Amino acid sequence: MADATLKIFSGSANRPLAERICAHLKMRLGDARVERFADGEVRIKVDEDVRGTDAFVVQPTSPPVNDHLMELLLMIDALRRASADRITAVIPYFGYARQDRKDEGRVPISAKLVANMLVSAGAQRVLAIDLHAAQLQGFFDIPVDHLYGSPVFSRYLRNLRIPDLTVVAPDVGSSKLARGYSKRLGAGLAIVDKRRLDDKETEILTVIGDVKGRNVLLIDDMISTGGSITKAAHAVRDMGARDVYIAATHPVMCGPAMSRLDEAQVQRVIVTDTIAIADGHRRKYLEVLSVARMLGEAILRIHHAESVSRLFDEDAEY
Ligand code: R5P
Repeated sequence: MADATLKIFSGSANRPLAERICAHLKMRLGDARVERFADGEVRIKVDEDVRGTDAFVVQPTSPPVNDHLMELLLMIDALRRASADRITAVIPYFGYARQDRKDEGRVPISAKLVANMLVSAGAQRVLAIDLHAAQLQGFFDIPVDHLYGSPVFSRYLRNLRIPDLTVVAPDVGSSKLARGYSKRLGAGLAIVDKRRLDDKETEILTVIGDVKGRNVLLIDDMISTGGSITKAAHAVRDMGARDVYIAATHPVMCGPAMSRLDEAQVQRVIVTDTIAIADGHRRKYLEVLSVARMLGEAILRIHHAESVSRLFDEDAEY
């Protein structure tokens, strides 16, 4: 049960998700305004008393990333200055996560800077789903609760009852994720050997494992420009795969993503609502599963100082 000291607020990035979380917890979304000053600066006003409360701000740092990040920082600052007892940044999709190391000279480690900014603003905890790399948790010197999308996808995928299924990782980085799904679904496993040419283009070198005559589930943490996943879809089909399904937690869907997915002609693309789907991106083949229940349960457990990892006990499904 939620109590009066628990408050949930939302930036503008994904208010419907925040509302779904509140509906699950049978509480109302906190009153706060997110507006713009005439010059485009973000203007935040929390419209209710938060003194002594356990406040959660729901805001994926999805595109437009800088705007959504700034809203999140300012909302945390507003809550801190209004004497909230504890502030948790609920970041279902954590943007800037891919720049997590100095892989060439004279580049920033953006993920670390963003972590520092959140803590400086006043965040005392972070709650995130399928971080691009689990080690990002170490960029924060505050507790980070890292949830997985898999319990949300599992039931849906199981109900599809896809025969002769092989789970395929679209790159080596996703192989651990894919292995987890192949175990959960009792399916085979294969890996696409991908090389990234730049932030928009990738090249497929080969597919490691057998996909001939198999139905394939391609699994990734996000679809950004859609290049990785659609090239992998074409590659497995060229190697004799039958039906191709795609599942990815975060539908970033930028640039050519939708046209690439339209052309890929896969059976289904399954994503979650960590990022709001733009109206123009709705498709028959696109299935959006909600993480609201899982986030709601995690928020309640954090509020009551209970274990969050228990949410992921074997066979948990949301
Ligand atoms: C790569 O490391 C990630 O797991 C995704 O495969 C990648 O970021 C998706 O980007 P895009 O859709 O632009 O290929």
